[in-house]
Amino acid sequence: MTERPLATVVLAAGKGTRMKSAQPKVLHRVAGRSLLGHVLTTVESLRPARIVVVVGPGMDDVASAAAPHATVVQEDQLGTGDAVRAALPALRDLCMAEAGADLLIVFGDTPFLTAETLRAMRDRRSGPEAPSLVALGFEPEDPGAYGRLLLDDSGAVVRNVEYKDALAADDPQLRRALDSKLCNGGALLGDAAVLNRLIDELDNDNAQGEYYLTDVFAMARADGFSARVQLAEEQEVMGINSRSELARAEALYQTRRRDEAMAEGVTLIDPASVFFSHDTAIGPDCLIEPQVFFGPGVVLEEGVTVRAYSHLEGCRVQSGASVGPFARLRPGAILGPKARVGNFVEVKNARLGKGAKANHLTYLGDAEIGAGANVGAGTITCNYDGFAKHKTVIGTKAFIGSNTALVAPVSVAAGAVVGAGSVVTDDVPTDGLAIARGRQLVIDQGAARLRERQQEPQDKDAARQDGLQPEARRRVAGQRATGQHSKE
Ligand code: UD1
Ligand code: CA
Repeated sequence: MTERPLATVVLAAGKGTRMKSAQPKVLHRVAGRSLLGHVLTTVESLRPARIVVVVGPGMDDVASAAAPHATVVQEDQLGTGDAVRAALPALRDLCMAEAGADLLIVFGDTPFLTAETLRAMRDRRSGPEAPSLVALGFEPEDPGAYGRLLLDDSGAVVRNVEYKDALAADDPQLRRALDSKLCNGGALLGDAAVLNRLIDELDNDNAQGEYYLTDVFAMARADGFSARVQLAEEQEVMGINSRSELARAEALYQTRRRDEAMAEGVTLIDPASVFFSHDTAIGPDCLIEPQVFFGPGVVLEEGVTVRAYSHLEGCRVQSGASVGPFARLRPGAILGPKARVGNFVEVKNARLGKGAKANHLTYLGDAEIGAGANVGAGTITCNYDGFAKHKTVIGTKAFIGSNTALVAPVSVAAGAVVGAGSVVTDDVPTDGLAIARGRQLVIDQGAARLRERQQEPQDKDAARQDGLQPEARRRVAGQRATGQHSKE
């Protein structure tokens, strides 16, 4: 089936005042991706010839988020119809193409609209009997303030009535629209040339003084064009207007994502405490313990264990490796097969080879760690000198003793050993041993003498209190310490 070229408009000019945010509504995130990002990804999967995003004045960061797609600015928020009208000049060449094109309009704040539903809308537009317009309808539990789609006996759309207009109407027939359970989900698909003309003709003679996109249904019917409804699930058309709706959307997304992961063979001991990003990729037989957070860009190959209270983002963990408990993998962390990163270990832009271990209290940043290397507790790669980042290289099977500071740029070659507590500033050759710490000094009886000296001032205080001379006081203390008792 050869489909007509598709022009798409995403409406995102609304300020979203109920979010009470300095950030435009569509940039708030669900599962680590902006609402707009979710919508664009879905729409992109239909391979439209062009996508134009309508933004409000000054919404430069929305425009950046929309790139490489074009944006147009809707100067005043005069309604959804006005917003689409603002986008039309950027699409006119496509819309007016001789061969005919379709125009799809979606909202930037409805992140769960699926590609399947949009494809079903497109499918309705093919064939000789195809309607000129396809509305997206749904039947919510509570129709609330949604627009109501009114159908005739054949199922064709007669018109849409906005909630406020139904409320304000004198006409009892219009008021009865509120009894209709069929609501308008917002998205709209139709013949681009027809829509172009109708949108140019919209007026704002209604309860809100807005240019309603939804008026095109009645206008089309008056001109002899038909409109049909594609039904969607209520969750799909869920619009996000407040922080609590944002949280509800997140919860919905996470529930679905956890179920998917388990269906694909991942064990989640406590699913409700594991948070995924939109792009988290997890292989089969991974085990995820409670309280784990996946930021964007995580790939876990098969058989990986992520133990409790770990935070991962922008990293790849290869098969059989183990992370945590209490580990942090930051962007650029790559753990090789069977590598182990244990408690209170942070890894950033560093690769651990096969079977390499960093089990406790360590920071590995900008580093390359060879297969089988062992990084002792408390090891720190000092990668930043206050001006630039530098690299640390640790060779295959090297052994880094506990509490070592590796002052980058520096390398410890294969098989080398670094003594505990070292501050390594020079490269260590293959199989070499580096000990870079103050040499230990042992003074026989030094502690005893130190104690004597330390005790003197206290003795003076005590002597003043109990009337003893320092010498006598020391004798008494010595007897106590050795368990001797003076007979009294
Ligand atoms: C709209 C529909 C309503 C439907 C509901 C579904 C109209 C007239 N009404 O109502 O039938 O039931 O969605 O959620 O279309 N926007 C702009 N510029 C504007 C106005 C809006 O870009 O001037 C954008 C908003 O940012 C938002 C989208 O259009 O992404 C929808 O606008 P909104 O005001 O939320 O429409 P509703 O009143 O909810
Ligand atoms: Ca809305």
